[in-house]
Amino acid sequence: MCVCVVVCLCVGPAMDWRSVQGVPRLRPIAGIKRKASPAVTSAPICPPSATAPSTKNVKQMLLDWCRAKTEPYEGVDIHNFSSSWKDGIAFCALVHRFFPDAFEYSILNPNKPRDNFQLAFSTAERLAGCPPLLDADDLIQMDEPDWKCVYTYIQEFYRCLVEKGLVKTKKQP
Ligand SMILES: *[C@@H]1O[C@H](CO)[C@@H](O)[C@H](O)[C@H]1NC(C)=O
Repeated sequence: MCVCVVVCLCVGPAMDWRSVQGVPRLRPIAGIKRKASPAVTSAPICPPSATAPSTKNVKQMLLDWCRAKTEPYEGVDIHNFSSSWKDGIAFCALVHRFFPDAFEYSILNPNKPRDNFQLAFSTAERLAGCPPLLDADDLIQMDEPDWKCVYTYIQEFYRCLVEKGLVKTKKQP
């Protein structure tokens, strides 16, 4: 069955991403559910909770990063962490961006998602040291990949790239 559940639970808080990106730690403020309406603009930012806004920001930043990195790749148009990844091509493009000699991108077939997943995950494991948190067989059984699983995997891939010095992180003051 899906390994994702376990994985999603145990990754996350340990991520470097938050500190790397300089997202400030925010204090929870009781009772405030939604972010800044116009009436609140002069007040300090009032986040709904300690984790929700930064999780959202982290997710969006990671999505933007994926979009930027795969932008030159034909057949990849990432808008979310679910169906955008279902044929495996987006994973391959992202991995190929960092390891262009590992495989030939142009011969990949979007009708062979299983092969694509396996190629991407095995290459990421071999060359980036990224643990294969996702399983190709699990993924092809879903209508669309669970976004939490994809998100977790991409976080891990990103972390491995940072560790290898392949992603330059902006140090913010
Ligand atoms: C996710 O993005 C894909 C394009 O990459 C789009 O076809 C799909 O409708 C989107 N799914 C959701 C749930 O937004």
